[in-house]
Amino acid sequence: METKNPKSADKLPFQFSDWVGRTEENEIRRLLRYSPKYYFAGGKPGVIPVKIFHEIIRNLMDEETQLITNQNPAHLNNYNYGPTEGSNELRSVLSKRLITRDGLQNITKSDVIITNGSQQALYSLCDTLLTPGDIILTTRPSYLGFLQCVEKLGGKIVTLPSDKHGMITDFIPDAISACIKRFRQKPKILYTIPYSDNPQGTTLSDSRKKAIFDYAYEFDYLIFEDMAYKEIQFSNKKISPIKKNDLYNEKVAYLSTSTKEAASFRIGYSVVPTKLRNEMIKAKGIYDLCSSEWVQAILTRYYDKYIDDALIPIKREYKQRCNAMVKSVKENLQGTYSKPTGGFFVWFKSNDTFDSTEFVDIALKNNISFVPGKPFFPSAGYDYQEDGRIKSSKSENNTMRLSYSLLKPKDIWVGIEKLGHLLSTYLQESKIIRRGYGGIPFSV
Ligand SMILES: Cc1ncc(COP(=O)(O)O)c(C=O)c1O
Repeated sequence: METKNPKSADKLPFQFSDWVGRTEENEIRRLLRYSPKYYFAGGKPGVIPVKIFHEIIRNLMDEETQLITNQNPAHLNNYNYGPTEGSNELRSVLSKRLITRDGLQNITKSDVIITNGSQQALYSLCDTLLTPGDIILTTRPSYLGFLQCVEKLGGKIVTLPSDKHGMITDFIPDAISACIKRFRQKPKILYTIPYSDNPQGTTLSDSRKKAIFDYAYEFDYLIFEDMAYKEIQFSNKKISPIKKNDLYNEKVAYLSTSTKEAASFRIGYSVVPTKLRNEMIKAKGIYDLCSSEWVQAILTRYYDKYIDDALIPIKREYKQRCNAMVKSVKENLQGTYSKPTGGFFVWFKSNDTFDSTEFVDIALKNNISFVPGKPFFPSAGYDYQEDGRIKSSKSENNTMRLSYSLLKPKDIWVGIEKLGHLLSTYLQESKIIRRGYGGIPFSV
């Protein structure tokens, strides 16, 4: 009998499911494998309240030792399975904080769902709601971890233009009419990151947030409000989420996370419309049964007692890192760039035409990383254009997302300076090659 060669792609001894072929590897995951000196790729937190976490963990362990000494079976709790929706203690602390700090109304602990990072909340929401062909509105560019969820599930992304204040909400009514005309369907979901958007770093004004909410009733869509960077805001202005308006808890799925303070804890939390809650928990149960009880115990204390004081020096440091990056980009790169008021990212668009997905490999060889802009545009979606038409989506390949979260200001300054030199040499040499003056290989 003939033996099949499992290495040949044509002769795989199994068949992948449909989504594998239409979903590319997440570029940020790929770049996380590298640790160059000048790391501007994934938004790895670089300022973490480690001493506070040590103190909390020490206290928890002391208490646990006491329980063991007293032969109290509760000492096993943190090592066991817990409720899929999260521990009662953490949900209770978070619901109070969501009311007092974020202004959410009419919610209780039962409205809060704990997930493994907010990425799991995004995926479970999409998984629960999307049927192939459903339309999702978002900005152009948008968070690639969300685009991937939608693409995997066969949803149709339609992007709206954005400016330095984020999504241009005036386009929403016309974009919806254009979707109905073109696809015979209206959008089901609108996804937005109102505070310090990923990748552009933009923050929506109150009037744009209000418009998104009001149109949700007029045009009957659900809002996914991704608040991943709400704790990393440089000014002390009070947070004002869209969810604040959702008094009947029926239009806004509000998502947040603790991962920008401690990524490895992998704890996200959300408040979703009442009628969606059980189905979302059901989906989470299928993925992983529950989140870690140990980590939830740590975060319960963090949110209860420490977070606000802990955030003061953290935000101060990120602000300095952000300033260093913005200044260095201004001096060393030729193009337009965002000036974030929080979060982890500067978005850069070069004045020249080039493909940053090719350039990133050269940067890596020179000890620098960033995330190329292309994956932040849908790979097979649509763009609603300012002239009112819907066209197949087009990525802006001369863009880069530069993260300032991990490195100190001095290293950010030097790294961006090096990136600037490298890019101008690359562009120079590419022009020479394009003009046909000989194929000089790019050397670094
Ligand atoms: C906008 C946005 N949403 C969600 C996530 C997922 O975060 P988490 O680590 O909590 O899963 C990220 C991560 O970078 C993000 O930038």
